[in-house]
Amino acid sequence: MKTTTILTLLGGLSSTTANTIPTSKGGKHQKPIHPSPPHHSPISSIPPIGLGLWNSKDKDATHAILSAFTHNYTHLDGAAAYSNEEYVGLALTNKTSPPRHTYWLTSKLWNTMHKPENVPVGFNKTLSELNTTYLDLYLMHWPVAFLPDKGGRSVIDQDTSITDTWKAMETLASAYKASSGAYGARHIGVSNFSPRQLDQIMKMCTICPYAHEFETHPYLQQQEFVNWHHEHDIKVIAYSPLANINPTYKDVMPELKPILEDPFWEAVAKKKNCTVAQAVLGWGVARDTIVIPKSVHEKRIAENIGSMEVSFTEGELEEINKEDKKVRFNNPSKDWGVDLFEGLDAGSNRFLMADGEL
Ligand SMILES: NC(=O)c1ccc[n+]([C@@H]2O[C@H](COP(=O)([O-])OP(=O)(O)OC[C@H]3O[C@@H](n4cnc5c(N)ncnc54)[C@H](OP(=O)(O)O)[C@@H]3O)[C@@H](O)[C@H]2O)c1
Ligand SMILES: *[C@@H]1O[C@H](CO)[C@@H](O)[C@H](O)[C@H]1NC(C)=O
Ligand SMILES: *[C@@H]1O[C@H](CO)[C@@H](O)[C@H](O)[C@H]1NC(C)=O
Ligand SMILES: *[C@@H]1O[C@H](CO)[C@@H](O)[C@H](O)[C@H]1NC(C)=O
Ligand SMILES: *[C@@H]1O[C@H](CO)[C@@H](O)[C@H](O)[C@H]1NC(C)=O
Ligand SMILES: *[C@@H]1O[C@H](CO)[C@@H](O)[C@H](O)[C@H]1NC(C)=O
Repeated sequence: MKTTTILTLLGGLSSTTANTIPTSKGGKHQKPIHPSPPHHSPISSIPPIGLGLWNSKDKDATHAILSAFTHNYTHLDGAAAYSNEEYVGLALTNKTSPPRHTYWLTSKLWNTMHKPENVPVGFNKTLSELNTTYLDLYLMHWPVAFLPDKGGRSVIDQDTSITDTWKAMETLASAYKASSGAYGARHIGVSNFSPRQLDQIMKMCTICPYAHEFETHPYLQQQEFVNWHHEHDIKVIAYSPLANINPTYKDVMPELKPILEDPFWEAVAKKKNCTVAQAVLGWGVARDTIVIPKSVHEKRIAENIGSMEVSFTEGELEEINKEDKKVRFNNPSKDWGVDLFEGLDAGSNRFLMADGEL
């Protein structure tokens, strides 16, 4: 067992001791109470590539998923906040689509549903829109609770903590076990957490995060943070794996060219006889992160899964490490009035000012 703790990342600021992952009570080493479920067993673990669904609008989302299935994708990354779950459901229920147990389906709890009593409400709404009875992974989308029903305005709910919300999410995972997979969340996880916030969950969890989804790509590598997850057996799902090419990010650092036109990455792609997108995504997989590129174009959907054929040598990985730009494109801290990504590259430095460096 590695002894590296999250405190290394916090720079020793936390006065408490980081613990290891507690084994859940109904864990692996216990005999199942129920006999083998009567249905097919679901896909064993999260596939290394999935189709992202943010900004895939209405029928485009349906078509993108049908294309993805044609090209053998077995993993979809959705969220209630993407406002397209009914269109995702339309793809899943299409006769041409594969059976539910053959692919991995992730969705996320939105910030307005953090109150413990709202967690199963948000979860059930997602299930019914997707027309499925279980999710493979349910993530807390952000470590931020909003008050519900503020007509589009984001007002922080000061009374609901991330640990309150996590406990309610554990209930969904317990329901999955108790029902032998008929209803609930197979796995639960987090998204956009800082080391300090993750540490809070690790200290109290009975069912601990299966995965952490956060922004990471060649321009925001966060290798030490990625390694910490691997040492603690938490999968890393790399969002915006194609860095700055999501049009939503165009104003963050306009002087930086799209990664697909970066001469360094063009050279990598040329050497490997693949496209730049395939090189960038292949690198994500080579460093043991799970990549979830979004596209609504079949040609690109096919191209992106082609990245699974691309491999890297240790020397090449070292060269790529030097290309980190530590730029974060997705940071709603200002809009929401919260300090996100404390202690991470291009995150909040509110609590680290004394160190004089970040
Ligand atoms: N947990 C979170 O808070 C969070 C935050 C951000 C993202 N995510 C997840 O991560 C997924 C991926 O991230 P992302 O959508 O931000 O960005 P991304 O997947 O890195 O990039 C998407 C953009 O790249 C284009 N594209 C895709 N493949 C291409 C290719 N081969 N060649 C040229 N252009 C290509 C797409 O255009 P077209 O669609 O027009 O082809 C789209 O504009 C999201 O969809 C979402 O599921 C999660
Ligand atoms: C998908 O997988 C099937 C079965 O392994 C294979 O026959 C088919 O060629 C694959 N399709 C693509 C587009 O790779
Ligand atoms: C299922 O998908 C196919 C292929 O995209 C499409 O032609 C068909 O209309 C869809 N069926 C339904 C019921 O939506
Ligand atoms: C969610 O759905 C499950 C299964 O149908 C049900 O048992 C539960 O009461 C529902 N919870 C809420 C809050 O709607
Ligand atoms: C939802 O799924 C069920 C079971 O797979 C199916 O019978 C039903 O037709 C689906 N509903 C819709 C609206 O597609
Ligand atoms: C490069 O890739 C293309 C397209 O996949 C293929 O047709 C070609 O044979 C490859 N060339 C080499 C030298 O591997």
